[in-house]
Amino acid sequence: MIGNETDAAYALNMFDAGDDSELLSMDGSTRTVYLIGGIVYKVESGDLINANRFEFENMLSIPLPVGVYFPDVSLYTINGRDVIAMEYISGQRVAECYCTDMEECESDCAPRDIVALMEDMNLDPCGYNVIINGNGAYIIDAA
Ligand SMILES: Nc1ncnc2c1ncn2[C@@H]1O[C@H](COP(=O)(O)OP(=O)(O)O)[C@@H](O)[C@H]1O
Ligand SMILES: [Mg+2]
Ligand SMILES: [Zn+2]
Repeated sequence: MIGNETDAAYALNMFDAGDDSELLSMDGSTRTVYLIGGIVYKVESGDLINANRFEFENMLSIPLPVGVYFPDVSLYTINGRDVIAMEYISGQRVAECYCTDMEECESDCAPRDIVALMEDMNLDPCGYNVIINGNGAYIIDAA
């Protein structure tokens, strides 16, 4: 298990209070993401979606090729609300880009094999949902 229920509840409280002191990112469309004690906590921004449970189940069940990983992940349910706790991954955030073969890619362009893999798995390659570091490529958004 990664993270703990106390900090998951703390993330929910920060979300409800609009407290952004430990906010990691609001870039994503569906979750508000906090970094508490070095662990990532994702709170669903709306209540019509089940992004966190969907992500948790995907990360436990989708097989990945060598060199591609999901971070360690746990799901906490507090008063009926699902919170994801996830290992923090450092590295270069990448997303699908649309440069031609004639152009120099930016450092945040996702490798094409990673984009193809995400599409095969019905995951979104466009947001910054992959982080590349010396260990490999980490898919940090499987919702
Ligand atoms: N495990 C992680 N390690 C590092 N950064 C992360 C991690 N999970 C999310 N983030 C950051 O938070 C952003 C939004 O998280 P994400 O899971 O993509 O939410 P959404 O489902 O709303 O798109 C990511 O683009 C990334 O910058
Ligand atoms: Mg995302
Ligand atoms: Zn590119």
